[in-house]
Amino acid sequence: MTILVTGSTGNTGRPLTATLRARGADVRATSRTPGPDTVPFDWTDPRTHPRALAGAHTIYLVPPPLTLDPTPLARPFLAAARTAGVRRVVLLGSLAELRGAPAPAPGGSPGGPPGPAALAAAVRSFPEWAVLRPSGFMQNFTGAHPVAAGIRERGEIRSATGEGRLGWIDAADIAAAAAELLLAPGPVAGEYVLTGPESLGYAEAAAIIAAAIGRPVRHTPAPVAELIRRNLDAGMPEPFAAALVGVDTDIAAGSEDRVTDTVRRLTGRPPRSFADFVRTRPGEWSTA
Ligand SMILES: NC(=O)c1ccc[n+]([C@@H]2O[C@H](COP(=O)([O-])OP(=O)(O)OC[C@H]3O[C@@H](n4cnc5c(N)ncnc54)[C@H](OP(=O)(O)O)[C@@H]3O)[C@@H](O)[C@H]2O)c1
Repeated sequence: MTILVTGSTGNTGRPLTATLRARGADVRATSRTPGPDTVPFDWTDPRTHPRALAGAHTIYLVPPPLTLDPTPLARPFLAAARTAGVRRVVLLGSLAELRGAPAPAPGGSPGGPPGPAALAAAVRSFPEWAVLRPSGFMQNFTGAHPVAAGIRERGEIRSATGEGRLGWIDAADIAAAAAELLLAPGPVAGEYVLTGPESLGYAEAAAIIAAAIGRPVRHTPAPVAELIRRNLDAGMPEPFAAALVGVDTDIAAGSEDRVTDTVRRLTGRPPRSFADFVRTRPGEWSTA
C-alpha cells in the first residue's frame, strides 16, 4: 500500500521517509525538484497531483507553506485524493494558532470555515485520519532560520516571547510519531499534541546552547515590528509574517507551555531533550 509523503525533503518529511523505507513501506516521496527517489509535486501546479496520488492509500500531508489559508490549494487536492482511493491522511498541523488566519464566514461558508481549521476538518472527513499538533521545532535553532542566524552572528536570540515557555520538539520525533500512525494496522482517528520532554523559554534554550558552544548566547526582547520586518526580509508574505509574530505574543502569554507524553505513547520511547539535540550538533553555531 503506497504512502505518499508530501514535504519529503523537509524537517519532518526527510526522517519520516527514511523511517518508512527502513521499515519496508512502499513510499512515494515528493519534491518540487525531484530526484531518483522522489516524484514531482508542487501545491501550486495541479498537473503534478494525479501522478503523486495514483494508487496511494495513505498520505502524510505537509500543508501548502507560507499562507494563512491553505484550503484553496489543499481542498481540491484532498478531493482528488478521495477519488483516487486514499483512505488515511496524517496532517502536520501545529499547536500554534495563526491568529491572522481567516475567520469562519458568518453562518459558515458552503464548505465550512476557511484556514487551518478547515484543512483539519477536510482531513477528518477521510475514513482514517490523524492531525498532529506539534510544539515549536528544535530545528528552528539550526540552519537558515533567523533564530539560528542570530545565535551564530551575534550570540543573541530576539523574540517577543518574553518568559513564555514551549515544549520544543525534535522534528525527528514528530516523524517517528507520524510513522506509527501511517503504518498502524488498525483504524486511526485522532488529534495528537506532540512536544518534547520539557518546556523551555528562549533564555533557558540560549543557556543550554551557550554551555555547549562555550560562548555567551542571550535572549533579548524584540518589538513586534522588528520581528515582522525580519520575517518579510526572509521572504514571507505580509499577512503570514505578522501572524507568525502573533504566535510569539501568544507564547509569552503561556499558549505553548505544556508537555505531553504523546511521543512516548506512540513510539514507545521518550522524545529527545533540547540539551541532547544541541549536544549532537557541535558545529551548528560556529561562526567559522
Ligand atoms: N517550525 C516550527 O516550529 C513548527 C511548529 C509547528 C508546526 N510547524 C509546521 O510544520 C510545517 C513544516 O514547516 P517547516 O518549516 O519545518 O518546513 P519543512 O517541512 O522543513 O519544509 C517545507 C517542505 O515543503 C515542501 N514545499 C515547499 N513549497 C512547496 C510547494 N509549493 N509544493 C509542494 N511542496 C512544497 C518542501 O519541499 P521541496 O522544497 O523539496 O519542494 C519541503 O519539503 C508547517 O506547516 C508548519 O506550520 C512548524
